[in-house]
Amino acid sequence: MLAKYFRPELLRKIAARAGTPTYVYSAPLFLRQVRAYKKAFKALDPLFCYAMKANSSRGLCALAAKEGWGADVVSGGELYRALRAGFKAENIIFSGVGKTPEELEYALKAGILFVNAESLEEVKALEAAAARLKVRAPLSLRINPDVDPHTHKYISTGKLGSKFGVSFPEALEIYLYAAESRHLRPVGAHFHIGSQVRSAGPYALAAGRLAAFMLKLASRGVNLKYADVGGGWGVEEGREMPDPAALARAVAGVFHGSPFRVILEPGRSVAAPSGLLLTRTLYRKAGGSKNYLVVDAAMNDLVRPALYGAKHPVAPLKPGKGPLKTWDIVGPVCESGDFLAEGARLREPGQGDLLAIYSAGAYGFSMSSQYNSRPRAAEALITGPGAWRLIRRRETYKDLVAAEK
Ligand code: LLP
Repeated sequence: MLAKYFRPELLRKIAARAGTPTYVYSAPLFLRQVRAYKKAFKALDPLFCYAMKANSSRGLCALAAKEGWGADVVSGGELYRALRAGFKAENIIFSGVGKTPEELEYALKAGILFVNAESLEEVKALEAAAARLKVRAPLSLRINPDVDPHTHKYISTGKLGSKFGVSFPEALEIYLYAAESRHLRPVGAHFHIGSQVRSAGPYALAAGRLAAFMLKLASRGVNLKYADVGGGWGVEEGREMPDPAALARAVAGVFHGSPFRVILEPGRSVAAPSGLLLTRTLYRKAGGSKNYLVVDAAMNDLVRPALYGAKHPVAPLKPGKGPLKTWDIVGPVCESGDFLAEGARLREPGQGDLLAIYSAGAYGFSMSSQYNSRPRAAEALITGPGAWRLIRRRETYKDLVAAEK
């Protein structure tokens, strides 16, 4: 079904003009996902805060902002990019376990909706920043609901013992402290149980615990408005579009009819299916103990296979020759961990043929680096049938050294 959005003729044109490797995103596909969320959650009417870390490219973020979405940012840099992409400050929330005093001041000056703090010391740093600016800081606490999301251990965050959030008993103490402060205004409570979560059960469990806690807080005189249930809804690592309906049922099951306004922070499920990485075959090394396709994209462009063992579907733009064979698709980086796919079943592509690595719109470019002094890839946005534009040029060798003194 993605072929409709990524026509081979158009991808070939993009490769000819922009070179490879290039990330190609589809605006219609991205919007389709944004609207799928709106539709699934219609009854709840939550505030959607797109998780910028998945893909902070202005070209894509601006689409979400125009649809009325806010943003979830995790650094001063993301806040800067969110504002630049057109997200309204009053729809931006700031998450993350270690915000610096400078970042907290930046967020307060910008007038964001609230800060998701993760420890008493961070709450005190926020209070101090607010005192310096003579304002009252809108505060939410990230609470660790002690729920297992059953995902890769690097992206599992909702169990006690992870570095994230505070426990419910600690949160109670902190809210009571904040409610007394002249420079803090408790407005919300938050959890984010992990990423690439494939079932709604853990959300229902965590949301139930959060709602009960918020009611208990209200009985102690602390009335919160926002229930922020984070992001993390997973993508089947095939080519399907993730459907947020099951997530919506789980969250609405708890919060529908409650006095709280729900916030969601989806990243991957919106951005991943909307993008692919376009790469060219450099060399084939077949016939040895393994068949290798050496391509011009590498782990510095897409680190997910190397880091999480992620499987991204790969398909040549034009069918290869001969029988189906098993290939490892590897990049030029000097590490054996530099693979984009292991054991991909393909007919042999020609030298110079183009390959598309799908489901790469999230945590692809945003996690890319210049490792091996490889300039970062270009990014292109398909805007409609046959229409596209470059939204970020390929970096040059000069870019590699631009900040050096
Ligand atoms: N909110 C918070 C507080 C988060 O930490 C994250 C992701 C999200 C929302 C968005 O989660 P999503 O809907 O995108 O799953 N680099 C990893 C994923 C790391 C996710 C970190 N936090 C990967 O490539 O799989």
